[in-house]
Amino acid sequence: MSRLELSQTSPLSKHLPDIPLIEDFSFDKLTSFQKNKNLPIHRWFKYLQGFSASLVDSFLMEWEVNENHIVLDPFCGVGTTLLSCQNKGIPSVGIDISPIALMAANEKIAPYPSASDIEESLSDIFAFKHPQSRVPDYEIVHKGFGLESLEQFMHLKGQIIKIINPDVRSILLFALGTIVDEVSLVRKDGAHYRYVKQPKTEDVFGVFKRKVLEIINDIYLQENPPFPIGKPWAWVSSGDARVLPLSDNSIDFIITSPPYLNRDNYIAQSKLELFLLDLVHSFKEYRAVTFKTLQSHIEAKPLEKENQILPIIKELLKALEGRHYSNPKNLDMIVGYFSDMSRVIMEISRVIKPGGVIALVVGNCCWSGVLIEVDKILATLAKSQGLEVREIRVARYKLNSAQQIAKYGKKYVRESILILENRVV
Ligand SMILES: C[S@@+](CC[C@H](N)C(=O)[O-])C[C@H]1O[C@@H](n2cnc3c(N)ncnc32)[C@H](O)[C@@H]1O
Repeated sequence: MSRLELSQTSPLSKHLPDIPLIEDFSFDKLTSFQKNKNLPIHRWFKYLQGFSASLVDSFLMEWEVNENHIVLDPFCGVGTTLLSCQNKGIPSVGIDISPIALMAANEKIAPYPSASDIEESLSDIFAFKHPQSRVPDYEIVHKGFGLESLEQFMHLKGQIIKIINPDVRSILLFALGTIVDEVSLVRKDGAHYRYVKQPKTEDVFGVFKRKVLEIINDIYLQENPPFPIGKPWAWVSSGDARVLPLSDNSIDFIITSPPYLNRDNYIAQSKLELFLLDLVHSFKEYRAVTFKTLQSHIEAKPLEKENQILPIIKELLKALEGRHYSNPKNLDMIVGYFSDMSRVIMEISRVIKPGGVIALVVGNCCWSGVLIEVDKILATLAKSQGLEVREIRVARYKLNSAQQIAKYGKKYVRESILILENRVV
């Protein structure tokens, strides 16, 4: 059997519409963040869950999007869609719930502080005129750093928060946040994070300086662009994709990727940054943000008291019945995920203009050995909301996790791009 056939051997197959799956491996490397690592500005913050700017560029070109259109990303993460639109002079809107992702997206879109103002503040910072900042009193902060590294980090924070120019202050605080991964003992891993014995480096001052020089360099390129840029605007807001703060029929195109149904808790993964940068002010506030995220992990809560169990999901539950679960909450998560995604699809079909097109990058998964074809289930939900499914473009196949392979054998899961359209009738 081909990988394509293997990726369709799910118990729900007979209930899913016969939508053609079109393999297009030119998207193979584009669904991950990898390619952004060398791109100016995109590279400022490495986001595990991000997609590549080339994926966005490819749809902007294919759909002939221009400066008279508005593009939405309701799960904008660190702003890949917005920055790609900005680079082409196209207005865009981004919504996300994660404070660290929103901070990154906001700093990455124009206007930027001037490169020379940042340069000036950088030399002031290393003059150490102000006392070090107070160490936030949370276990993860104490366990997450060596003593010397924590001291250096808090010294930098103490200098940065005293900077008078608010734009320079915020971009430098963001720069400090971007180095946490490199200088701390915390690694984003699996659903949450884990501690390691050694940081990648203990030279906090050196890593910070290099990051700021990278930012200065990239802003300088923008101030002296090698190609003409129009006057785009991008608007980023904290919000929930299940209740979009946008008017009906206000958006021309949507390019987005919701969280995958893989139990990754993005908020937990950024817990150290959230506390270090005062992006949350108490454990209660941290938990409140976690509760509000989409139910792609077991710590999120339904928007209303109960999740809606959709008819297609009832069929899925039958297939999952009696299976062994490492955590019984996994079943609630699966129900909750599709209940939430049904709302998201309802919202995007409300805000998209007639004729508008949507690209939704999604990942299929396996739970207790059962293959869940997320792309086809979401296509079914989209159809029921009146959207046309143009195609499911298969970008690549991935194998299920090592744990699942050991227990249930190899399974191929698709990573696909669902292309939907609000057909004019
Ligand atoms: C797969 S990532 C998108 C990454 C983005 N494409 C990029 O390149 O940075 C999914 C995003 O959904 C966000 N998210 C989770 N629950 C949300 C919700 N209820 N509303 C809006 N965003 C949410 C997460 O914080 C995460 O940034």
